[in-house]
Amino acid sequence: MITTVAELRERLSEARADAATHGRAEPPIAFVPTMGALHDGHLALVRRAKQLGGSVVVSIFVNPLQFGAGEDLDRYPRTLEADLSALDAEGVDHVFVPSVEEMYPAGAPTTRVTAGPVGSLFEGAARPGHFDGMLTVVAKLVNIVQPTVALFGQKDAQQVFLVRRMVADLNLPLRVEAVPTVREADGLALSSRNRYLGANERRAARTLSLALEAAESAADGGVDRAVAAGQSAIMGETLAKLDYLVVVDPASFQPVGDDFRGTALVIVAAVVGGTRLIDNAAIQLT
Ligand code: PAJ
Repeated sequence: MITTVAELRERLSEARADAATHGRAEPPIAFVPTMGALHDGHLALVRRAKQLGGSVVVSIFVNPLQFGAGEDLDRYPRTLEADLSALDAEGVDHVFVPSVEEMYPAGAPTTRVTAGPVGSLFEGAARPGHFDGMLTVVAKLVNIVQPTVALFGQKDAQQVFLVRRMVADLNLPLRVEAVPTVREADGLALSSRNRYLGANERRAARTLSLALEAAESAADGGVDRAVAAGQSAIMGETLAKLDYLVVVDPASFQPVGDDFRGTALVIVAAVVGGTRLIDNAAIQLT
């Protein structure tokens, strides 16, 4: 485990220099940023990173900048020992676990990345400032690690969209790869926050993936039908409170009209018990 920026940079430059002295092409560095409390969803990103054949860097950092007042920053699950042994078992080369002081030595940074208009839609509407804080830490982390590729889960579709946009807008020299969502047997997308769910809430949480399936089955009838089918699936679950279920264009993350044709993304958020859950799935509109 590496806790300082200086040490991580030194270790990574040693690896680069070692490749150069042996006349090898510089190996790719694949980077997986996380907030810890690792589950199989995170490990799917790590496994994909390993497949790329270079070294793998995983960061564990619960970023205060992306949590709003009254959110779960203080109770966010922290399971460092278990995380480190899971990453060790996957053969991860470098695990970067900085403190808040290491990442923000001067306190909250005055220079930040802003997510733009898409940053205040959907998750951004429910969590003001969340995406600015997320992009700011991702920008810092990729500047520290300087990876060839960074991997993100499709589970957080708006996050991947905004990271890709930042990489393009700011010419960050890396590739972004999205990894498909890993689910429980009943369809619930794995999330560190699922552990907040009581037994009844856990059963009710299934409604998100069921709503996506309902929307998908109704997609033949167009966008409006798909949305109506998805929304009524959630509204039929008394323990779940629907926030949004919308069909967006993956190219712009804006809601599509009923005349949209092609591959679109159904995104859903609902609060189950006190826990906010999100999910998404691609649908074909013909
Ligand atoms: P965290 O919630 O820990 O997620 C880390 C990565 O794991 C994200 O890219 C997320 O999309 C992915 N992930 C989570 N659940 C998944 C699942 N069921 N299937 C596939 N991938 C999954 O997202 C963050 O942390 C933070 O915002 C971060 C990017 C680290 C910046 O602080």
